[in-house]
Amino acid sequence: MPRCLVCATAIEPFIDFGRMPIANRFLAPEELADEFFYNLAVARCPGCELVQLVELVAPEQMFHERYAYFSSTSRRMSEHFAGFAAALLAELPPAPAPFVVELGSNDGIMLQHLRSGGARVLGVEPSANVAAVARERGLDTRVAFFDLALAEQLRAEYGPADAVVGANVVCHVAALDELFEGARRLLGPQGVFVFEDPYLPEIIARTAFDQFYEEHVVYFRAESVAGLARRHGLELVELHPQAVHGGSMRYTLAPRGARSASPRVAQTIARERELGLHTAAPYAALGERVGQLAKRLRETLEQLRDEGKRVQGYGATAKSSTMINYAKLTPALIESICDTTPAKQGRLSPGAHIRVVPHEAFVADYPDVALLFAWNHADEIFAKERGFEAAGGRWLTYLPEFRLDPPHMR
Ligand code: TYD
Ligand code: ZN
Repeated sequence: MPRCLVCATAIEPFIDFGRMPIANRFLAPEELADEFFYNLAVARCPGCELVQLVELVAPEQMFHERYAYFSSTSRRMSEHFAGFAAALLAELPPAPAPFVVELGSNDGIMLQHLRSGGARVLGVEPSANVAAVARERGLDTRVAFFDLALAEQLRAEYGPADAVVGANVVCHVAALDELFEGARRLLGPQGVFVFEDPYLPEIIARTAFDQFYEEHVVYFRAESVAGLARRHGLELVELHPQAVHGGSMRYTLAPRGARSASPRVAQTIARERELGLHTAAPYAALGERVGQLAKRLRETLEQLRDEGKRVQGYGATAKSSTMINYAKLTPALIESICDTTPAKQGRLSPGAHIRVVPHEAFVADYPDVALLFAWNHADEIFAKERGFEAAGGRWLTYLPEFRLDPPHMR
């Protein structure tokens, strides 16, 4: 019987997608034979309220020297990290220069903004290739998984941190007790642990099930974070909703007693309870809606194929892997996926093996229909692809709503 990662209570699976590939592993043709699969299923813990994956993939399978995700690829995300850095620095005493440690610092996009804002920065990043980009920018980065031993070592070497931060990284970690304990030990007495991740109530509200894949080991909401914080002498003191990744939440934690909690914390937890997120019902309903959405997308694509239309995917996102493989979409339905990330281009998408082509290929030969996999960047993408619509191209989206539009409708 699967047990909770945090409190060891028997967990209750509510959705099972079956066999899935690693969502960020884009394959060279010679790698197809030994593609790795696992069973993607999601469960809720009735003990501590944490929503989590049933089967975990070893971190080394996901975060390695060939990691395909570079945080700097989207203009909007770059602006978002600038805002995150500015908001954080506004909270910290300006002198002496605050010391900020970022967990999962990727290519250093946020570290860079923190450094320009006057902070001393250190990144911890297990994927060597993305960390190398940060180092080239002169950003001090450790290639490592963050654990208790590293937290103690960093504190001994650099002194206590004024802030430990993470964006879309805490939800990647199964060893949560170790991470939270490590963060607390690295922090000074007035320090803050600030992280943001996709927000479970938003995932449910939008049926954004494409957030479910192996990297996202846990799906937080305020109540589950408050509980985790308490286990490690920390307290959830502030919450800031964020629009990125289809709806995220930024959590601020402080050593217990160091800061008073904003009323928003209790209000948000109360709202989560009004939504019944501490009961099984909303999760069962989500499972139903997911099945319907996948079926509708597949049927729409089959119809377009029967009409002889060319369909190209737009944005080879990790999250699209869940939809593509669950809905059993194939190269016969989607001829290719365009993406601006060089590390993905020329490779095949995980599981379905749809070709990833450069963005230039999209512009050079527009398809009839573009299927927007990077739906969280819709505004940015629609704005820059006016030419596609002018040429008569149609957008197909399945989130946040299902639409297949004639030109000029967006
Ligand atoms: P992201 O939205 O972070 O999603 P995930 O975490 O699911 O991978 O990734 C966006 C992907 O879309 C990334 O591979 C870059 C690509 N992309 C484009 O190709 N063109 C664009 O204009 C944008 C904004 C993104
Ligand atoms: Zn639990």
